[in-house]
Amino acid sequence: MKVFLNGTQGRLNKTLQEVAPDVDAIICTGGTNPRENPNPGIAESDVIIDFSYAKATRSLLEHAAKHNKPIVIATTGHPLDERAALIEDFSPRIPIVWSGNYALGVNVFFYLVRQAAKLLGPEFHPELVELHHARKKDSPGGTAERIADIICKERQWDRHASSSYGRHGLIGARPDEEIGIHALRCGEVTGEHIVYFAGPHERIEIVQRSQSKRSFALGAFHAARWVLDKKPGHYIMEDILGLNTMDAPKLEAL
Ligand SMILES: NC(=O)c1ccc[n+]([C@@H]2O[C@H](COP(=O)([O-])OP(=O)(O)OC[C@H]3O[C@@H](n4cnc5c(N)ncnc54)[C@H](OP(=O)(O)O)[C@@H]3O)[C@@H](O)[C@H]2O)c1
Repeated sequence: MKVFLNGTQGRLNKTLQEVAPDVDAIICTGGTNPRENPNPGIAESDVIIDFSYAKATRSLLEHAAKHNKPIVIATTGHPLDERAALIEDFSPRIPIVWSGNYALGVNVFFYLVRQAAKLLGPEFHPELVELHHARKKDSPGGTAERIADIICKERQWDRHASSSYGRHGLIGARPDEEIGIHALRCGEVTGEHIVYFAGPHERIEIVQRSQSKRSFALGAFHAARWVLDKKPGHYIMEDILGLNTMDAPKLEAL
């Protein structure tokens, strides 16, 4: 499998290059800066993996569609409406996998959060805290946005109206139909997420801690191999792992 990466020097792009030999992937950026001319690298690739910068996504999707290549998008930080517009514009033309987190364990964590949101009634208030390294550019991260998507979908809440990003000042009492989303930034943390479901008499906390960037790289390569023969459309990592149903399959390490 020949893979085009949208950049070579970024933290995740470096990890993907380290992991590639372990998963029989050949990286074909050709040493060029993809911001200048990605066409030669994309033309010789089977699939594109994008860990880059939100403002670069539309241009990369245009190149992908021009060369008719499937793409795995890992970049986060897109406004919700922009992300929806990109999926609407390009998924009829090429296969797009787009997930806020490609790690196997994180996707199982999403599954657990979905079950908790479904099983616990509205008196259990969801709150979300995420923690990342000091250099992370977007806030909250894509994983936190995905967690909010899952909870709002299960509770049948409006995603925009019920999301409260941080709290400050005289905010008054918390409404029942709300999810608080809070981002911490410090040090070298790869990524941590804590979801609280706090009821009147007890509280559940579901915690996820990433220990290595390799988990994202292995998941992205797995998604890239999966999407090679797929029809145009929009897919997420939970589709690939079969985690969208209550009867989830037994998973193997990626
Ligand atoms: N979905 C997931 O599982 C997951 C996991 C971790 C991180 N991420 C996301 O992946 C993205 C990259 O994270 P990172 O920590 O690797 O960031 P980073 O260290 O800042 O690297 C950014 C990369 O983007 C490339 N790039 C391409 N076009 C660009 C443009 N127009 N402007 C700026 N950079 C451009 C850079 O290319 P050069 O090499 O040429 O400089 C560089 O390789 C972030 O959005 C992050 O949140 C996603």
